[in-house]
Amino acid sequence: MKQDMIVILDLGSHENTVVARAIRALGVYSEIYPHDITAEELKALPNVKGIIINGGPNNVIDGVAIDVLPEIYEAGFPVIAAGHDKAKCKIKLPQFGNDEEGIKNALRMFVFDTCKAEANWNMKNFVADQVELIRRQVGDKKVLLALSGGVDSSVVAALLLKAIGENLVCVHVNHGLMRKGESEAVVEVFRNQLCANLVYVDATDRFLNLLAGVADPEEKRKIIGGEFIRVFEEEARKLDGIDFLGQGTIYPDIVESGTKTAKCVKSHHNVGGLPEDLQFELVEPLRQLFKDEVRACGLELGLPYEMVYRQPFPGPGLGVRCLGAITRDRLEALRESDAILRDEFQKAGLDKKVWQYFTVVPDFKSVGVRDNARSYDWPVIIRAVNTIDAMTATIEQIDWAILMKITDRILKEVPTVNRVCYDMSPKPSATIEWE
Ligand code: XMP
Repeated sequence: MKQDMIVILDLGSHENTVVARAIRALGVYSEIYPHDITAEELKALPNVKGIIINGGPNNVIDGVAIDVLPEIYEAGFPVIAAGHDKAKCKIKLPQFGNDEEGIKNALRMFVFDTCKAEANWNMKNFVADQVELIRRQVGDKKVLLALSGGVDSSVVAALLLKAIGENLVCVHVNHGLMRKGESEAVVEVFRNQLCANLVYVDATDRFLNLLAGVADPEEKRKIIGGEFIRVFEEEARKLDGIDFLGQGTIYPDIVESGTKTAKCVKSHHNVGGLPEDLQFELVEPLRQLFKDEVRACGLELGLPYEMVYRQPFPGPGLGVRCLGAITRDRLEALRESDAILRDEFQKAGLDKKVWQYFTVVPDFKSVGVRDNARSYDWPVIIRAVNTIDAMTATIEQIDWAILMKITDRILKEVPTVNRVCYDMSPKPSATIEWE
């Protein structure tokens, strides 16, 4: 293994990831471990150079005071405390949030002067390490991967491909709810350019037939999610000799699932739902990375910029933007208007600025005029929002001229649309998606 590591022991602080990121920003790898790790377990970890004990103001979880094991101080590693008043170590960090510069300096001194860690955490070394680890784990066996075309699954695919080549089998299920050109891009990049072993399944009819007449958003989500697993499972059964399942699990998924001390924020779902007799061992090479590091890894592996910086796209895809019961004509209007919006955002440089932007087609018509005759067609709603964590969101105040250009193009190029609206609602009171 190439990289030195600073270990953060988790006493239930919300700032563990902030500290981990601050250390990684110094070019030194850092991981968070539970507070009750033993000295022996610590010594078994690769290239540990120092330990940070990081706790909230009182280190009390559910009424019980918690602390690290006393033997940790005797394990032979430099130890520093952050936000932990009673820690038995000489150096203490100021509280995060109070004095950012002070903390960064203190971390820098601890990591480089005290721990003598080398700044050798970078994507080149990460990729080299992971290729070696994947080969060690998988040997000459085969790995199956559901390749959605999202950032995480695409980067996992590229990494696995580099490590095991044709022993990686990617399955891309097109549920007919992808954006314009998206499934085609997956085939182009992975099959044609990277020569990956890719099974492409066009399951559009299956999904749309099942969804016909279903208007309730949660019911639609359940149908799409359930059918996705069924299609993937059918493909998996057709393949011989698969022992492993690749997963795009990333570090926030692991941290949010809760270590022993951190409360469970949300449970971490793997592909899950696969039947008992289809049990695979997991390969999760991105499990140590934060989202921006996943993107950097994708670029290091040569994936196109647009794939690596793709905006978030919900699993149920356009299915939750074609409101109510999905019909093929409205889905088409949605896909075309969304493509125009994305094209114009890219030309205006807004794709690098706005967090999420898309169109929505409701399930009612309105009256208009086209070619001197009455029309009765669909409206399109434009949504463009900014957010840090998707829990709250503000709308992007788009330049009027750009909005006019987009409106003009949608009305000209999408024949079933006669009206374009801009959604002004922040979250709350609205959500980002309409369903
Ligand atoms: P809301 O609409 O809840 O969306 O404000 C917050 C973020 O989550 C995405 N989203 C989903 N992602 N499956 C997903 O994978 C879903 O069912 C789903 N619903 C919403 C949404 O696009 C936004 O980024």
